[in-house]
Amino acid sequence: MIVPIFSRTYLATAISEISKSEGKTIKLRGWIAKKRTLKGKIFLVLRDSTGLVQTITDDKSKAYKTAEKITTESSAFIRGKVVKDPRAPGGYEVKVSDIHIVGLAETWPIARDTSAEFLRDIRHLSLRQRKTQLMLKVRAATFAAYHECMTGLGYMEHQSPSFTPTPGESGAETFEVKYFKDKAYLTQTWQLYAESMLPIMEKIYTVAPSFRADKSMTSRHLTEYWHAEVETAWQEFPELLGLMEYIVKFISEKVAKMCKKELIELGQDPKYFAKLPKFKRLKYRDAIAELKKDGFKVKFGDDLGTVEEKHLVAKRKIPMFITHYPTKLKAFYMKIDPKDKSVVFASDLMLPGIGEAIGSAERSTDFKDVKKRLLAAGEDPKVYEWYFDAVSKYGSVPHSGFGLGMERLVMWFTGADSVKDVIAYPRTPTRFTP
Ligand code: 4AD
Ligand code: MG
Repeated sequence: MIVPIFSRTYLATAISEISKSEGKTIKLRGWIAKKRTLKGKIFLVLRDSTGLVQTITDDKSKAYKTAEKITTESSAFIRGKVVKDPRAPGGYEVKVSDIHIVGLAETWPIARDTSAEFLRDIRHLSLRQRKTQLMLKVRAATFAAYHECMTGLGYMEHQSPSFTPTPGESGAETFEVKYFKDKAYLTQTWQLYAESMLPIMEKIYTVAPSFRADKSMTSRHLTEYWHAEVETAWQEFPELLGLMEYIVKFISEKVAKMCKKELIELGQDPKYFAKLPKFKRLKYRDAIAELKKDGFKVKFGDDLGTVEEKHLVAKRKIPMFITHYPTKLKAFYMKIDPKDKSVVFASDLMLPGIGEAIGSAERSTDFKDVKKRLLAAGEDPKVYEWYFDAVSKYGSVPHSGFGLGMERLVMWFTGADSVKDVIAYPRTPTRFTP
């Protein structure tokens, strides 16, 4: 069956497929990424979602007048003959016989010296830049691979609400919003509602926006980010660690395969991502000892900052779990290690060059203890009564889960300088436009 996607009038060869038509005349469609005129020839680089190709229009061709008129970022059909040219970026060029302009573009506002700030102001246009296209394709592949992995493991997708009566993740800053006459919060995590779903679903996952009113202007913080979260009933801490490693490796392997060309063009090594080594594991206590040895001024109970995290993982060059964090540092819902009450069954995954990309834990099912910790964190346990009912009072089971920041993972795959580069419309403390 031919699935009707593009209208018949607009059918054309995808740029990634032109090598199959060497010597033949084909029709391409796309946008003019670059225009250059040189010695009676007009060079138009055409872009579609699959790639770029250089086209050449000779001043003897009947298409020359149209080539003169066409502007950067206009959309067009270009008909021409495919010729092999090892000097051309994709190995092929197109000798143009006909051009049909579909949408003539106004003067393109981006030049070589356009400032980074202005590029962010016109993100709706600057995202057409090649590097952004490559990064957003890797992003799309990352999401696709995640869904494939989770459904393959038999997980069901569950959606939690975005308006919540409770902050959700103690320690993180929340956005308060007016909810008619009341005050609500924008969700920081899908987790608490997810836990209440386990008695009917057992294995669930999501990927959805989480909101953090954190003012940190770092390369790894957004105020709205895409949060991949997984929750599993009947699962204790060791299996949680194994599951996270499996999922990250599955996604990495898929992305390496689906985006081999994109990763190479971004200067990344798809071979590394296709076969990640076994992840390292380090207890928080040992991490502190190691940091001390390496000259850091830290002690048990201190939060690890980006610098410390990056230092630990850079030494190993391999993703690394830091486990058994101090109870006082971590969220109220984490299970306390019965053998050492000063730590919880929590683990953060560190990625080389990034630092924390996953936060995870086995959950406490002891609501009295959770209540105590909520009070200590300055929260009102009353608004969590529904949560105590769902995970503790009515048929509790051991369960665990995690949250993965998708932008941090995509940043790692692509080698981007910032999470802002791997999301189409980044939201930060100083920007929510365009
Ligand atoms: O460590 P966090 O705060 O954990 C939770 O929210 C848990 N409730 C998740 C769970 O167990 N279901 O956040 C999880 C991950 C972080 O490791 C980080 O990758 C990402 O979310 N993250 C951010 N990404 C971009 N910008 C921010 N401001 C982020 N805050 C957290
Ligand atoms: Mg965390």
